[in-house]
Amino acid sequence: MSRIVIGNWKMNLNLAEAVAIAQASAKIATTVPSLEVVVAPSLPWLTSCREAIRFMPPNFAIASQVVSREKEGAYTGDVSANQLKGLTKYCLVGHSERRRFHHESGAAISYQIKQLLANGIIPIVCFGEMSQSQSKTFSHQITLDLEKDLTGLDNWHDLNECFLAYEPLWAIGTGKVATPDYVAKVFEHLNRWYQDKTGDMGFFIYGGSVNEDNAASFRDISHIKGLLVGGASLHARSFGAVCRAFQPHV
Ligand code: PGA
Repeated sequence: MSRIVIGNWKMNLNLAEAVAIAQASAKIATTVPSLEVVVAPSLPWLTSCREAIRFMPPNFAIASQVVSREKEGAYTGDVSANQLKGLTKYCLVGHSERRRFHHESGAAISYQIKQLLANGIIPIVCFGEMSQSQSKTFSHQITLDLEKDLTGLDNWHDLNECFLAYEPLWAIGTGKVATPDYVAKVFEHLNRWYQDKTGDMGFFIYGGSVNEDNAASFRDISHIKGLLVGGASLHARSFGAVCRAFQPHV
């Protein structure tokens, strides 16, 4: 697997809809063997979605949208990485909606990453400019802010166990897509920053209003290995089209 497409369902879909789209997404995976196809259902549907897929394709996986920074204890409403273990391969961390509505940022992100890594779950660390106003030139502030989120990591090399998902706030759920030129510049910068910190190549993902019409425009941008898809992942037809469009050329 060299590439990944992740569907973030957010707080959408009832149980029957979630199971149906999980099954359809697993079928999509069988048609795009060069991709890993991942869906992130709401917490109560994780087990049902998993169990509804009788023959799990090797390139299909389930992600959690959320995890607690704490190991266990009196944290009503939270779910620990240990509880997710065995249920999900991946977990989103630092999504802009968690930052906005649950004030998760800074140290909380590092603690969540540490809990996930300790339990063998791959963190998908989301970040990006938090301003709603689209800037014409991206700012190095995005990696300075990301560094603040990561100050609690023991070692920069922990990042090699994570995926990094760049999602500019102004592009999430707005239909305003970042231009390929803008995105290419961000990922060039991100790649340099990552190599500087770790000496390695990172696994980078783009997200924000990705749909079946624009997915192909991200396919050939250097360093982008994945897409994080919100709205377009809620329908099997559009999610399948995004996956097919993002397949690498052979
Ligand atoms: P969107 O959401 O594709 O609906 O913009 C992306 C995300 O929030 O991860």
